[in-house]
Amino acid sequence: MPGLVVVGLQWGDEGKGKVSAYLAKGASLAVRFNGGANAGHTVKLGEKSLSLHILPAATVSTKAAAIGPGVYLDIEEMLRDIEKLEAAVGKVHVVISPRAQLVTPLQVELDARIEELRGGGSIGTTRRGIGPTAINKYGRLGVRVCDLLEGEAQNIAEVWRRVWGGLTSLRVEEALEKAARLVEQVKWMVGDVSSLIHEKLSSGETVVFEGAQGTMLDIDHGTYPYVTSSHTVSAAAALGAGVGPKSIHRVVGVAKSYTTRVGAGPFPTEFTGPLADSIRERGGEYGATTGRPRRIGWLDIPQLRYACMLNDADEIFLTRLDTLASQPRVRLCVKYEGSGDSFPESVSSLRRARPVYEELDGWPEIGESERSRLLAEGYGGLPRSARQYVERIEEELGTPIRYIGIGPGIGDVIMK
Ligand code: IMP
Repeated sequence: MPGLVVVGLQWGDEGKGKVSAYLAKGASLAVRFNGGANAGHTVKLGEKSLSLHILPAATVSTKAAAIGPGVYLDIEEMLRDIEKLEAAVGKVHVVISPRAQLVTPLQVELDARIEELRGGGSIGTTRRGIGPTAINKYGRLGVRVCDLLEGEAQNIAEVWRRVWGGLTSLRVEEALEKAARLVEQVKWMVGDVSSLIHEKLSSGETVVFEGAQGTMLDIDHGTYPYVTSSHTVSAAAALGAGVGPKSIHRVVGVAKSYTTRVGAGPFPTEFTGPLADSIRERGGEYGATTGRPRRIGWLDIPQLRYACMLNDADEIFLTRLDTLASQPRVRLCVKYEGSGDSFPESVSSLRRARPVYEELDGWPEIGESERSRLLAEGYGGLPRSARQYVERIEEELGTPIRYIGIGPGIGDVIMK
């Protein structure tokens, strides 16, 4: 199974970093294909936690990474990632697509200005310049790595000034000069990502395509306009890396045992109060990029069913069963009151959606010694109530849950 895609099935923060690092054991290349430095993929190595924004977390296993043309590239963030990674795992090899769109200080400033203009309707972006980079890209006003390498972006400064001058206090030439200096610094990493992936796949090696954000933040399929400005579904791996759909052989969807969302937008199973606060604290549910507290909700079957379909998920990696432990009862949203089979598309219908919950028994704390026992015994060692929770989800989704995360470490996984 050489082309493996890892995607988030919820609103991001499902634990894709750890999952990709786990699944990439034995793989030879990790690929980022979407998003930008809005992502924060965390992976725990011993006692240290590594949070990566541009490079895939699977690089800790592969030691080789590729940044596809679908990535909004913030070079400074990438350089910081390389430094962190190399301090933790030694030398890594990185190839950047010359077609990747660059995020410059202009796009970062515009992100904040546009959010201010939206006022009460703001999206709660990560302010990493993602939306404005996408606006420029699709308006054919973007600047790619190769454009700066070949000095082909001279007249864009004047266009940017005229289009964006009313919103920025920056001198656009300075933003471009800074980007050009950074491109010069990394030009030795620029290479043909598409050919590299094709070569690896045709020689039978495994390539892990590590998606950023989650399905419900997809620009077309998510809870628009409360979404990110790229595609986050499995099909985006092919487009954003430069391979055809036949290069994708397996899709692993990652879902947390409950749901979280950071930023604004509809969230049908959200709840607040002491229980939400306790799950947030137990799980350290604060944005890896912005530090913002994540909103907490129960697992949402209609949402996950939609996500499994959009991604053609072959199997699910269910993370953080340990975080949801030690609750007397847990809830599972099995449908929305009165809604049909399809997932509601408008913000107002999602806000009106009334979840219908099933209550199940909770399971006891999974501490250090319990974790070691479970790792030795496997799925059968889980408390009956935890197995019932997992199997009820599978039954509702019709997609197998093959892996279950029971702790923060890369290896804290049991297979079902
Ligand atoms: P942007 O991608 O920074 O424009 O933010 C758009 C929306 O997506 C906001 O609600 C963000 O909080 C959310 N978002 C962006 N990236 C991530 C992520 O990696 N994890 C979770 N939410 C994200």
